[in-house]
Amino acid sequence: MKDMMQKLREASIEAVARAESMELLEELRVRYLGKKGELTGILRQMGALSAEERPVMGQLANQLRADIEGAIERRRQRLGEALLERKLQQEALDVTMPAKAVRLGHKHPMYNVLDQIKEIFIGMGFEILDGPEVELSEYNFDKLNSDEGHPARDWTDTFYFTEDSRILLRTQTSPMQIHAMETRSLPIRVLAPGRVYRKDEVDATHSPMFHQIEGLFVDKGVTMADLKATLNLVVEKIYGKGTVTRFRPHHFPFTEPSCELDIQCHKCGGKGCPTCKGQGWIEVLGAGMVHPKVLAGCGIDPEVYSGWAFGMGLERLAMGEYKITDLRLIFENDERFLQQF
Ligand code: PHE
Repeated sequence: MKDMMQKLREASIEAVARAESMELLEELRVRYLGKKGELTGILRQMGALSAEERPVMGQLANQLRADIEGAIERRRQRLGEALLERKLQQEALDVTMPAKAVRLGHKHPMYNVLDQIKEIFIGMGFEILDGPEVELSEYNFDKLNSDEGHPARDWTDTFYFTEDSRILLRTQTSPMQIHAMETRSLPIRVLAPGRVYRKDEVDATHSPMFHQIEGLFVDKGVTMADLKATLNLVVEKIYGKGTVTRFRPHHFPFTEPSCELDIQCHKCGGKGCPTCKGQGWIEVLGAGMVHPKVLAGCGIDPEVYSGWAFGMGLERLAMGEYKITDLRLIFENDERFLQQF
């Protein structure tokens, strides 16, 4: 029996020392020390021993068990260390490797133009307003003196949310005039840029979503001369000194009188070229004196106060400034396009 134990000791210690994985080590533990293992097998023969021999063999067996357990434990630790080492090596960070260059983004070209315009108006004491894109018809139309019959109210022109046409995506930033007059104390100077929506098919110059910038000035004694002077100044700041402007009569329900502002084509000097579509002039914005009915609707006495308002398209302005020929490029977020600015 002593021989058997000695053989088991030699075989097991050697096998354990050579085990290359945790799984194998566990197999060996079961094989030598498990309930049906080899040591148990030997101990079963204890019955055949004499009373004197039994404790001696028992002690030897316990010692053997402890030794094999110790060997397994040492091997387990060694394997664990090796595993960790290998992992560390595999996941090693090479701090000398050159880093990937950080690519900083930049402002969208259209927002550059917007910032430029905001600057100009902030310099003249205007407050910048942000308003809702989901609007009540009341604000988008009624309070702007555009009654039921107005063509812009048609279902084919406007995105409504409700069957009763009460809530819609605003078709213009002009409802911000009403919000400003209802919430601000006089005099009022506000600039309200933002998205507007119309049921337009997408092409090189149209999009169902685009941006407008609304301007409004209400005070005592404001006249058309103030409007012209202010807009001429703005145009010169954007397009350069000496840019020729033309105020052309027009109609908007919420301004009276109304006009459109054209600038002489900076490309051809008014002769006519592809940039101005042969017209010699480029339309920049719509404007006018705030209609007395609109003022009164907001609780402002038109006998005492008057004001002007304008609305311009931001995309068109950016297209002019950056010589962009297709409106779609502004919204497609193609990096090759955006990186140019
Ligand atoms: N809201 C008008 C449009 O979308 C523009 C405008 C604004 C005209 C303010 C006059 C005054 O065409």
